[in-house]
Amino acid sequence: MAKPQKRYVCQACGSVASKWQGQCVDCAEWNTLLEEASNVTVFSQRHNLQGGGRSIQLVGLDADIPLPPRTPTGIVEFDRALGGGLVPGSATLIGGDPGIGKSTLLLQAAARIARAGHSVAYISGEEAADQVRLRAQRLGLGDAPVRLAAATSVRDILTTFSGKEAPDFLVIDSIQTMHSDLIEGAPGTVSQVRASAQELIRFAKERGTAVMLVGHVTKDGTIAGPRVLEHMVDTVLAFEGERSHQYRILRAIKNRFGGTDEIGVFAMGEDGLDEIANPSALFLTARGDAVAGTTVFPAMEGTRPVLVEIQALTVRLASGATPRRAVVGWDSGRLAMILAVLEARCGLSFSTAEVYLNIAGGYRLSDPAADLAVAAALVSALAERPVPTLAVAFGEVALSGELRPVAHGGLRLKEAAKLGFDSALVPASLADKGSGIRLHGFAQLGNLVDHLLGRG
Ligand code: TYD
Ligand code: MG
Repeated sequence: MAKPQKRYVCQACGSVASKWQGQCVDCAEWNTLLEEASNVTVFSQRHNLQGGGRSIQLVGLDADIPLPPRTPTGIVEFDRALGGGLVPGSATLIGGDPGIGKSTLLLQAAARIARAGHSVAYISGEEAADQVRLRAQRLGLGDAPVRLAAATSVRDILTTFSGKEAPDFLVIDSIQTMHSDLIEGAPGTVSQVRASAQELIRFAKERGTAVMLVGHVTKDGTIAGPRVLEHMVDTVLAFEGERSHQYRILRAIKNRFGGTDEIGVFAMGEDGLDEIANPSALFLTARGDAVAGTTVFPAMEGTRPVLVEIQALTVRLASGATPRRAVVGWDSGRLAMILAVLEARCGLSFSTAEVYLNIAGGYRLSDPAADLAVAAALVSALAERPVPTLAVAFGEVALSGELRPVAHGGLRLKEAAKLGFDSALVPASLADKGSGIRLHGFAQLGNLVDHLLGRG
């Protein structure tokens, strides 16, 4: 038998090198290369793959394909992110920071599905069975017919279900704790995670089980090590939020069976995760008197508008010091751009002011329509003039200072009207479609600045 060659696998991106290096040549991460045995590769090299297989059936593109059947979990926000429910025989990866609530969410989903009459197994590799049971009882789920085990050996798990009816829904919490004895290496290494996932995904396809893999996320937001996992599974969900805040967003990043523009919103409370049917109400709680530097932005999350509060603070500095720019929940490059446009096109100077920008509630904004609302917050902060409390603001800002309309204007206005807002600061070209909101349209950012400063 050939001597297994040494190989070094980057634990961040999965790329393979033949010798150890301090920095991965592919993803440029430092100290991520770990030695791993390559016996799987050696094994497959010894086999010729021609002949001996089954002929596969080839079909035309126009063949009728039934929509995948779905099992709703009964948790509306969860089903929404999944695109309508669990697909039998599918593999889903749910990623998120440790402590964000993945185990809680899946335990609640498992209990719901089990109560609806489906067979459900929950395998915990991180917590003892008693710990999970205790949590279930505390959440009032103790009576749900979920079958629970603490295990980390993929072979043991698959052996348990072989020859028996496979569960409809199988939760593996987490994939980083799983161990496949087909391959060497400690749990959590790229090759272990990949091999374990491969076996579990094969099980899902063969037995028609919907398998949900929990994956922890690294600091840079990718699912630890196994970025490769994202390619292997059918659906990737990200569970996001700030640990210090109660709300959580479940977002589909990849979905072979549905769209990726829907989110589910939850709040972590005493009794686990509550569904939030009306997210805007959550982010806008406790709005008091008008405060300078604050605007409300109707963001779009998929097809769903969510109103969020944008807060800006500027602090004048004694000359000489380099002013800070700090952003939470938005892109710092985009903030620099808005500041530059305000300086160059509107004659406002932020060069001697520290600028802090925060999206309230720990929310993360990626919608470019936030430009106008951010600009309004910055101007309001700098001038210490509040934007009216019942106004929302949205639109894209071009480098020329021109304000551009954005998608879903009508939906944004409607959501704002629903929550009691009465006016909107928007690009001039936006037409109202009967939301009842009074529109203040501006062609240029300079016009908006004049309006906010009471100059016109
Ligand atoms: P958990 O589901 O264990 O997170 P993950 O599996 O993503 O690591 O959630 C742990 C956190 O959630 C923990 O800090 C406590 C909090 N929590 C609540 O606030 N309320 C609850 O009812 C539960 C079960 C957890
Ligand atoms: Mg957990």
